[in-house]
Amino acid sequence: MRKGLSGQVAVVTGAARGIGAGIAKRLSEDGALVVVWDLSDQVDPTAIGFEPAAVVAVDVADPRSVEAAAKQTIALVGAPQIVVNNAGINGPVMPVVDYAYDTWRRVVSINLDSVFLVSQAFIQPMVNAGYGRIVNVASIAGKEGVPGISAYAAAKAGAIGFTKSLAKELVTTGITVNAVAPVMVETPLLQQMTADHIAASKAKIPMQRFLSIGELSELVCFVASPECSFTTGFVFDASGGRATY
Ligand SMILES: NC(=O)c1ccc[n+]([C@@H]2O[C@H](COP(=O)([O-])OP(=O)(O)OC[C@H]3O[C@@H](n4cnc5c(N)ncnc54)[C@H](O)[C@@H]3O)[C@@H](O)[C@H]2O)c1
Repeated sequence: MRKGLSGQVAVVTGAARGIGAGIAKRLSEDGALVVVWDLSDQVDPTAIGFEPAAVVAVDVADPRSVEAAAKQTIALVGAPQIVVNNAGINGPVMPVVDYAYDTWRRVVSINLDSVFLVSQAFIQPMVNAGYGRIVNVASIAGKEGVPGISAYAAAKAGAIGFTKSLAKELVTTGITVNAVAPVMVETPLLQQMTADHIAASKAKIPMQRFLSIGELSELVCFVASPECSFTTGFVFDASGGRATY
């Protein structure tokens, strides 16, 4: 039986909507004080379905912004026991031959640099406390590669490699570092994709339906809990039977 997360602080990046809002709500239902990190601090609690402990405006791809947000968070609610690196963008769907370098940099920076920056900001307090849970929202695209979204897939593969490396660095500290690799979930992220790309993604899911935000949030909440204590550096798939490796 789960003991719950009461007394714990959780930072969830990109939590103003979509998957991040679902994860944040689920963590808060388990008792965590959830700090929403997103581009704007104008977040309506009724839209996300719960009352966050704080909302902090941040660009997770910008080192100075992350540093300031971490300081603000610690001052407002204390250092987090849980960090969920969820913020991300898809970027355009187009072949590598047409992909602009600036777009590549932006997609990699928001999906990958952010995971390094936000994790780094909270490692020391977690080490001092002898406890922590870092959960990185990757993607099945990072395990398999997907045509048309090379920058996204490369960044998510990078996030998986970072997860495994950091987990090994911190393995004796009480901090676990894991990733989740979801298939497609119906969120505003899909507005960045073509209809063909969405249909092709759905066709690859053996359960023949999209993953729900609730299903993914439940998994993340378990990985972020004290009960998930002996698994680190692992990628938890949420793929409706697509990834079996
Ligand atoms: N939706 C899917 O099908 C799917 C599948 C696999 C993985 N994912 C991953 O799940 C995560 C959440 O995706 P989503 O579908 O909820 O997307 P979304 O577009 O609905 O929400 C993303 C959130 O991140 C925030 N954000 C974007 N850039 C940011 C930045 N630089 N700094 C701070 N916040 C920023 C946005 O403001 C938004 O609130 C992403 O990492 C995405 O890659 C999504």
